[in-house]
Amino acid sequence: MSERKPNIAILGATGVVGREITQIVDELHIKFNTIKFLSSAKSAGSELEFQGKKYIVEEAVPDSFNNVDIVLASAGGSTSQKFAPEIVKRGGVIVDNSSAFRMDKDVPLVIAGVNDDDLRNHKGIVANPNCSTSQLMLVLKPLHDKFGIKKLIVSTYQSVSGAGLAAINELTDDTKANLNGEKFENKCFKKPISFNIIPQIDVFCENGYTKEEMKVVNETKKILHLPENLPISCTAARVPVYRGHSEAVDIEFEKEVSPEEVREILSNSFGIKVIDNPENYEYPTTRDAAFVDPVFVGRIRKNLAFNNGISLWCVADNLRIGAALNTVRICKSLIEMDLY
Ligand SMILES: NC(=O)c1ccc[n+]([C@@H]2O[C@H](COP(=O)([O-])OP(=O)(O)OC[C@H]3O[C@@H](n4cnc5c(N)ncnc54)[C@H](OP(=O)(O)O)[C@@H]3O)[C@@H](O)[C@H]2O)c1
Repeated sequence: MSERKPNIAILGATGVVGREITQIVDELHIKFNTIKFLSSAKSAGSELEFQGKKYIVEEAVPDSFNNVDIVLASAGGSTSQKFAPEIVKRGGVIVDNSSAFRMDKDVPLVIAGVNDDDLRNHKGIVANPNCSTSQLMLVLKPLHDKFGIKKLIVSTYQSVSGAGLAAINELTDDTKANLNGEKFENKCFKKPISFNIIPQIDVFCENGYTKEEMKVVNETKKILHLPENLPISCTAARVPVYRGHSEAVDIEFEKEVSPEEVREILSNSFGIKVIDNPENYEYPTTRDAAFVDPVFVGRIRKNLAFNNGISLWCVADNLRIGAALNTVRICKSLIEMDLY
């Protein structure tokens, strides 16, 4: 492992994901030479404490990236599009949380522990997958390696924090208004989110799927190196939960498979915790996953509709494995593989 230590910048440090990234840089003991925190003009000048030291948040401008080796970015797609060329020009690597570069063929889309080797092909930009794809990859990769995925159907139940701070506040305000019998005008979501489930995340595409659903389809194929014509379908819904995404997953495999084998493999896989004892009502719920790292899996059973099919339930913290934790794990891999 290299003895070099990178200069790091956190772009979008004052946002929901950026704050989480900052905390996880500390938790994962990332060794750096210097670190700086960047935002828009709005939060520039604010103070932030990190590892017992006070830092002033700076407004991001192109020269902010002089002598920066690794940028951990969660400041929206247009900000990443604006700054990525500046970062690359200066010899840095950007690990980006937005969807701006995910499907570019020159940009590795990486889940640490799943396809770290793809990092070797980076040309200065590495993309972090969409939150609903991320948790799924850690589950699917070891199963695909052993049994070969033939067909995949995913239904997601996604929390409001996936849509940022304003959406978190909208759930609180709409719930209060509803309980008090007051009128509430929803802004973040197309329909009221309190006491409701909304079968739309992001905009609709021509094929009737939403963009969020197509992210799961396309990103899964890219990360697992699956054939373009492998059938995958997804339905994504927003649920009135603050933190944690849940997913019902139905998989058809090439090879024969049993629930016992799946339980055994996942119990020994990186980043996964199996809780699966239905007789004692033991299965993971969204609350189990909030604020912690593992992707929890339960309800593993034979799927009745497929040959060689398995159904399972998977929950994870969308702000950690779905965004910040994977970003920092990628940073760690870049350092360990000496790829910056
Ligand atoms: N929330 C999730 O679960 C999740 C998951 C995966 C990916 N993401 C992606 O991560 C990104 C951030 O999401 P979020 O939920 O953290 O949003 P957020 O809470 O709204 O935070 C946005 C951050 O970006 C900064 N920013 C905005 N415009 C900027 C600019 N022009 N230059 C520099 N900094 C700028 C903001 O700074 P100010 O404080 O100055 O406004 C703030 O620090 C988005 O691309 C989102 O799609 C989010």
